[in-house]
Amino acid sequence: MDTLKKHFKPSLIRKVVSKFSTPIFIYSEKIILDSIKAYKAAFSKTDVLFCYALKANSNNFLCSILAKKGFGADIVSGGELFRALKAGFKPENIIFSGVGKTEEELTYALKSCILMINVESFDELKVLEKTASVLKKIAGFSIRINPDIDSHTHKFITTGKIGSKFGVSLKEAFLMYDYSKKSKFLNPMGLQVHLGSQIYSASPYAMAVDLFIKVIKKLSASGIKIKYIDIGGGWGVDERKGMKPPAIFAKALNSRIKKLKNIKLIVEPGRSIMASAGILITKVLYQKKSGHKKFIIVDAAMNDFIRPVLYGAKHPVYNLFPKKRENIKADIVGPVCESGDFLAQDIKLPLPDNGDLLAIGSVGAYGWSMSSQYNSRPRAAEVLLNEKSGYKLIRKRESLFDLILSEI
Ligand code: LLP
Repeated sequence: MDTLKKHFKPSLIRKVVSKFSTPIFIYSEKIILDSIKAYKAAFSKTDVLFCYALKANSNNFLCSILAKKGFGADIVSGGELFRALKAGFKPENIIFSGVGKTEEELTYALKSCILMINVESFDELKVLEKTASVLKKIAGFSIRINPDIDSHTHKFITTGKIGSKFGVSLKEAFLMYDYSKKSKFLNPMGLQVHLGSQIYSASPYAMAVDLFIKVIKKLSASGIKIKYIDIGGGWGVDERKGMKPPAIFAKALNSRIKKLKNIKLIVEPGRSIMASAGILITKVLYQKKSGHKKFIIVDAAMNDFIRPVLYGAKHPVYNLFPKKRENIKADIVGPVCESGDFLAQDIKLPLPDNGDLLAIGSVGAYGWSMSSQYNSRPRAAEVLLNEKSGYKLIRKRESLFDLILSEI
C-alpha cells in the first residue's frame, strides 16, 4: 500500500478527481518506465524483441511510451494493428496473433509489412497463402504450437493445454511447415507459444523452450531455418505485491537461448508492464445492509472493471484519505443491475463516509481495455501521472452522446 501511495500521491489524485471526476483510471508513467527497465535489464545479454501485448491496455499515449523505448507490438486484431501503427510501433516489430484472423485483417497486416503472422491453424495458413498471392507478397509466419504444458493458472486464461482453442499440435505444425516449403508466398520464420496469463514460475517457459530446441533441430534437418522463438507473454502480477521480477523467468530463457545460433527471442509481455501502473478511483455513493452483509455502493461498476467477477480476481481497495476508525467487512459494489457487479467482496477497510474516494489497485492491465458501456454507462476517463507535468488527460470521459454515436 505504501509503494502505491508513493506513486499515486493522494493529494495529487484529489486534484485530478476535482478536474476530471470519477470513476477514473490513473496511471503512473514512472511505474511503466521501471517495468520496461526491468525487462531490458533481465534480457540484456540475449538477442530479444519485446512485443507489448496491446490487449492489456491499448491507450494510444501509453502505447507510444513503449514504442519510443524500442518495444514492438503483439496484436490480435485489425483494430490493434491500427492502434499499434498510430502509436508509433515500427511495422517490422509487429507480430499478429489470434485464432480467427479474417482475410481483411491478413490483407491489412501484409500491406502494412509487419514482421510476421502467428498462424494458429492449417486453414489459416492456406488463407494467408492465398491473401499473400493476391498481393504478390511473401508472408512471414510462425506457427503457434500448443505444447500441452500446464501453466497452473485460471481456466479462462490458460492456453497451452491440449483441448484449448489455441495453437496446433506439434504433429500438425510439422505438416504446416512442410506445406510452406512448396509455396512461393509463405516464409516460415518462427515458432510461437503463449502458455497462459498470470504465470509465476519459470518452469513452463523453460519446458517450452526445451521443446522448441528439439523442434528447431528437426526443422533444420528438413531444410527449414527458423529465426525466431516467441515465448509469448503471461508473466504474473500479484494484485497486491506487484510484478514478480522478470529476471526470474529471463534467467531460464537466457541460458537456453544462448545455446542456439542465429535465433532471436521474442517476449510478449502485457500485464507485467501495465497492471501495477494503474489504479481506478471511485467515489462512495451510499452504504447499506442486507441481513448480515454490508454494502458500499460506489460510482464504478463491472462495466469499468470486470476482473473481479470474471476471474474472481482480488484487487486491493483502499481509502485515499482513511479515517481513524475500526475496520468493517463489506462488499464494494457498483450501480449496474447485476448481482455480479462487485469490485471486491468481504474486504476489510476502515468505515468510509459517503463521498470518500476509494482506489482499486493493479488495474492498469485488462482494466480499461475490458471496459464496456453496459447499462449505458459512458466509459471512464484516463489520466497519466508524470514527473514533467504532474498529470495529463490521455482519454476523455465518454459523453452521453458517445453512447449513440454509431447508431442509426
Ligand atoms: N501474447 C498472447 C498471444 C496472448 O494471448 C496474451 C494474453 C499475451 C501475449 C499477454 O499476456 P500477459 O502478459 O498480459 O499475461 N483478460 C485476462 C487476461 C487475458 C490474457 C489473454 N492473452 C485477465 O484480465 O486476466
